[in-house]
Amino acid sequence: MRILLKPEQLCEGVERLAREINCHYFGRSLTVVGVLTGSIVLLADLIRQLEMPLRVGLVQASSYRHTSEAGELKISTDLLTDLHGCDVLLIDDIFDTGHTLLRLTQELRQQSPTSLRSAVLLRKHGRKSAAIEPDHVGFEIPNEFVVGYGLDHRDLFRNLPYVAALDASEL
Ligand code: IMP
Ligand code: MG
Repeated sequence: MRILLKPEQLCEGVERLAREINCHYFGRSLTVVGVLTGSIVLLADLIRQLEMPLRVGLVQASSYRHTSEAGELKISTDLLTDLHGCDVLLIDDIFDTGHTLLRLTQELRQQSPTSLRSAVLLRKHGRKSAAIEPDHVGFEIPNEFVVGYGLDHRDLFRNLPYVAALDASEL
């Protein structure tokens, strides 16, 4: 495992994201929707730096992927608060092909939020294939499988305080 982002770098990146978001939504209230399970660490760190009146909702997206291959995507909105008439910011751990973010935004739009934007901690370089861009990005990373700070491999490593790339032999 090779460390790509140390805890101090992650801290700075989250501060940067928070500044952008505080600036964009200045004077408005916000509903932050975290994508389970990968966004939990970012969500906890980020919302404590947001200064507007804030609600938190959760959605679950599971793609059943065990390697870098994407599997079938399942979305559950059972834990979601009502988004009608709200400014909504969707938070995910990583933007890879973009299909998860695209599907989630389509799903959330059905609840008629006033606005819907997105923030991700990481964006993988050169992988985008869906017609969507995240509005806020913490870090651009190379096309490698990464774990830590919420991101998993086979449900492990979410607790690491850094982001590390796994070697092919570890996948
Ligand atoms: P996308 O739909 O291809 O953009 O993939 C996004 C989802 O796949 C993320 O929410 C992650 O759960 C997962 N994912 C993509 N790349 C990685 C990775 O390098 N490590 C861990 N999970 C990943
Ligand atoms: Mg995920």
